[in-house]
Amino acid sequence: MQGERTPIVSGNWKMNNNHFEAIQCVQKLAYLLQKDDFDAVDVTIHPPFTDLRSMQTLIDADQLRIKLGAQNCHHEEKGAFTGEVSPLFLAKLGVQYVIVGHSERRELFGETDDFVARKVVAVQKHGMTPILCVGETLAEREAGLTLDKVKTQIRAALAKRTAEQVKSMVIAYEPIWAIGTGKNASPQDAQEVIAAIREEVASLISRPAAQAVRIQYGGSVKAGTIAEIMRMPDIDGVLVGGASLDPTEFARIVQYRRHAV
Ligand code: PGA
Repeated sequence: MQGERTPIVSGNWKMNNNHFEAIQCVQKLAYLLQKDDFDAVDVTIHPPFTDLRSMQTLIDADQLRIKLGAQNCHHEEKGAFTGEVSPLFLAKLGVQYVIVGHSERRELFGETDDFVARKVVAVQKHGMTPILCVGETLAEREAGLTLDKVKTQIRAALAKRTAEQVKSMVIAYEPIWAIGTGKNASPQDAQEVIAAIREEVASLISRPAAQAVRIQYGGSVKAGTIAEIMRMPDIDGVLVGGASLDPTEFARIVQYRRHAV
């Protein structure tokens, strides 16, 4: 059961919404969401880096309960890393959650398991929560390698973490073939993989860490599919790409508890 784990719904905007559009989008979202929603669910928004300062100002000024997230960061605090963004600077901007190892970073920008593991350490060092993404390609799924792939990614990313550190993390299971394609893993499929991830955390770290760590599903989540996904016992939330760009749709996803199933 989700039990003590607070559900978490995250909007990954990817390379969409400039800072003007971002302000409008978050204002609309804040208008649509109510106190009850924030009492029941953690809501995080992950805009592009160039929007973060505007988002921080808006969230502070209007005392919004939407939590600010980033889509990536470097593992070093500062130095000769042209074009990279320091986790220290993100923490200064009020960022609380950082997506780490998204499949687009791994596949398009060559991020390795080792690089991702360093980022997890850096994000936690600066008091932020990593949302660690794992997931298999279609070829891997068809070859029956889904669990091998995600367990390898989990082992690499958690190798240097204590039980307490793992408890406060978020993991996102995102089958790569379901991202932006309109294809979902069925809730039962997602549940099966996520339960296996939890078991892996139990054997690698500890049973209490496995029970506490929050695990999201991601990949073409929509308002129409969320309620069934959230009924799965090991799924604690969702990481939403495309559907998070529309505040009305995203608000309905956050409000999944109100949907009749
Ligand atoms: P999608 O993206 O919801 O558009 O499939 C999910 C993600 O990449 O996090």
